[in-house]
Order: sequence, then structure tokens, then C-alpha cells
Amino acid sequence: MAQTRRDFLRCTAAAACTLAVPGVALAQGSIEELTANVARQQLLPSIYPATEIWGYAGTVPAPEIRVRQGDRVKRRFRNALPQPSSVHWHGIRIENAMDGVSGLTQDAVVPGESFDYDFAAPDAGTYWYHAHNRSYEQVARGLRGALIVEEPTGPDIDREEVLLLEDWLLDPDSGQHFADFDQPMMMSHGGRIGNFVTTNGRHDLTIPTRKNERIRLRIINASGARVFLLSLSGLAGWTVALDGMPLANPKKVDDDLILGPAQRMDLIVDVTADEGSVAQLLRIGDDDQQVPQVSFPVDGRASVATRGAPVPLEPNPNSAMPELAEARDLRLVMAGGAMGRMQSALLGGERLGFRQLASAGKFWSLNDVAEMTTNPLADLSLNEPVRLKIENQTVFPHAMHLHGMHFRELRVGGALGPMRDTILIGGNETREIAFVADNPGKWLFHCHMLSHAASGMTTWVRVT
Ligand code: C2O
Ligand code: CU
Repeated sequence: MAQTRRDFLRCTAAAACTLAVPGVALAQGSIEELTANVARQQLLPSIYPATEIWGYAGTVPAPEIRVRQGDRVKRRFRNALPQPSSVHWHGIRIENAMDGVSGLTQDAVVPGESFDYDFAAPDAGTYWYHAHNRSYEQVARGLRGALIVEEPTGPDIDREEVLLLEDWLLDPDSGQHFADFDQPMMMSHGGRIGNFVTTNGRHDLTIPTRKNERIRLRIINASGARVFLLSLSGLAGWTVALDGMPLANPKKVDDDLILGPAQRMDLIVDVTADEGSVAQLLRIGDDDQQVPQVSFPVDGRASVATRGAPVPLEPNPNSAMPELAEARDLRLVMAGGAMGRMQSALLGGERLGFRQLASAGKFWSLNDVAEMTTNPLADLSLNEPVRLKIENQTVFPHAMHLHGMHFRELRVGGALGPMRDTILIGGNETREIAFVADNPGKWLFHCHMLSHAASGMTTWVRVT
């Protein structure tokens, strides 16, 4: 019987593998290395010299990490950088000790030392990993990569592409990083926004496609401060997940797409452009012009017609709605920045005026405090439902990120939005989020405009 023969072949192949490659058995006990080091890479067009970057495995983008849902990610992080560092696995519902936050969940790994990360990936989706010590410098220098957790049965697609969006602030003469990572002008304004944008380390990323091909795009905003405004040309599709979490109903892309720092978006798109033309993922550039972020030249046909709307991705475990009636009410007031109304804030227990704060490198406050505090914003008990109202009293947008748990936005009228781990809040806007404190530990809550996080916009919650 065909069935038996196939099973037989499968068994023999597996057995042969184990017997023929003793290395497999050895590899199980060992742990893969992830070394961060200084390297040079050609980011800019070839009229420029290679740029000095800091990269995991010395590359930009960092090596993609890909596991199946429920599997463990194990990496021995080795620090070959000139600064202490740690690795944060952004968006993973992780064990607290593995969260990689220097100064909160672990000590920063000093140059020459290593740290073993070993954690389960309980939710399928698009995540990323990045440095979490002096991240406004280390992420900007290149320490960022994709972390993909695959569904047991993925969607019906022809292929997928991971698109890590990066930006760089490089000296136009030398092609090297400007070294002033804590420049006050940037810290007090929109953050360190680059002058050069890449996808997967390339400024001209080109991915050949075929007409009617169905592609899953896993788009990750890995920039330190840039809000990406994207649109599709010659591609038609649906948003199927945000920040790794599947949408209950795929949403047709009929407008520009906004992706704040650290946010992710999974699209399922069909190539509708004609053969011989070029489909594009476009970005609204700094001068309001549309510029190609990724080009998809169309050659040949994948099928005679496009498929219909995709079915939703399987929901992840823990996607229950928080019980709002029983929720604890919390409030977070964000203040400061240039053109803001912040007169003073607490630093080291002392009330300082805006100028004094500025000379100490602090420009922002959360609930009147301009630094990470010893006491958390809230002490929560395990599985407690929480509502958190966030009032942005600054004129800048901020991308607020909660570690270890996902939240939903509580919309006007009481509806709960999709699960996310980062919310982009516009200048002078008030938004409310709700979540279940279902992961014990110390979890950071901070702005992912990374220079804002370093200059006052970081707090944390404790779940016990
Ligand atoms: Cu993506 Cu606290 O980080
Ligand atoms: Cu911010």
C-alpha cells in the first residue's frame, strides 16, 4: 500500500540520518552562538566606503531566527562589542529572566562575556530581537533582526518575505555613523531619525515575483524612531496580523499603512501588476514624495487569477478579552520634549526645572518622573485585568511598548481592538489600553523612540 511504503521511507530516512550524522546527537546538547561584533558592510551605494556597523554575527540584517510555535529559542549571546549589551526578544510572551533588559531582568553582558538565552515561543507571529542596553545607540548601529515563529499550519500562500525596515543616520561625507547618539536636539524632538533607509540592509531591495503570486509580507519597523507610512502599488492585499498577533478578520488594505517604531504588520498580498512591470512597497519620504521601499519586478505568471480573501490566521493562545468591569484603572501622563508644557519633573527624588533636567540629559517624564524608578508604575497580581489610560501631553508621537504581555486598545464606545505590544500615540492624544497581567515578572513599559526611552520615557510594572 502506498501509505505503508511512504511511512516506511520516512522511518528509514530518519533512522539513516541519525546513524549517519553523529553530529546531530552532539548538537542537541550544545547551544548555537549569537555573537555581536563590529564589522563593515556596504550599506550605501558603492561610491561610498563600507559603513562600520555593530551586528549580530557581524551582519546587517542580523541572522533571521525562525522556530515553530511552542519550540524553544536557545542562543549563547557573546559580546564582542566595545560596550556592555543584552538581547531583548521583542513581543515574545517570555519568561521574565530571559527578557534581556539590562538593569532590570539581567546585568548587561560585559565585552568578552556571554549569556545563555533559552525560552519557549508560545505564540506564532512576526517578532524581532534587538540590543537592550543603550539601545538608542546599539540598535541604531545595527543590532536588530527578525524573529519568526511559524504557525503549525501556515496560510495558503506561494511564498513569504521578511522585510526588516531600518534607518541610519550617516555622515554624508564619510558614510559613517555620526557619533553623537545622545544629541539633545534629537532626544528632545522626534528621536534619532535617520537620513538613509534600508530594507534587510539594502537600499534597493528587489524581489522578483510573478503575476498573481500570493506573498506573505512580514514587515518589521526596526528603526529607532522613524514612523513608516507605507502603501502598495501593483499589490493588493489584506492585513492579517499586527505585532505578531493574528487579526480575527483580515483587513483589506485600502489606505496607507502606518507602522510605528517596533511595530510589525503581516500582509497577505497578491501581485496584480502586469508581467514586465514592477510592483512596489512604497514609503512616503521626508519630502512627502512616494519612494520605493521594496521593488517587485513581475516576470511570468504564478496562476491565471488571484485568490479570494485569505482566511484568518489561527488565533494564538491567551487571546481572551480582558474583563473590563473588574479591571484596575491606571493612568500614565507623558510630558516634556521641545515645545511641550513640562515645567519640571522628579529626577533622583529631586524636583528639577526643565533646563536642569535637560542638562542631565532628561527631556521627558512619565507621571512626573524623568527616569526609570525603583518602584514600579503598578504592582499587579497575576491575571489581574488592567485598564491603562495614556495621556500624551507632548506634541510628538510616541510608540509605547509593553514587555512580556500583549494589550488591546480600548476604543471610544468600549470596543476592544486587536492585540498589540506597541501603540503609536499621536501628539496631544489620549488613548486607553487594556490587558490581563498574565505573565509574572518585571516588565518594562517605554517609548520605542529609543532616545526618548533613554531621556525619561521608561517605566515598568511588576506582576506577582
Ligand atoms: Cu523592543 Cu524594551 O523593547
Ligand atoms: Cu517617545
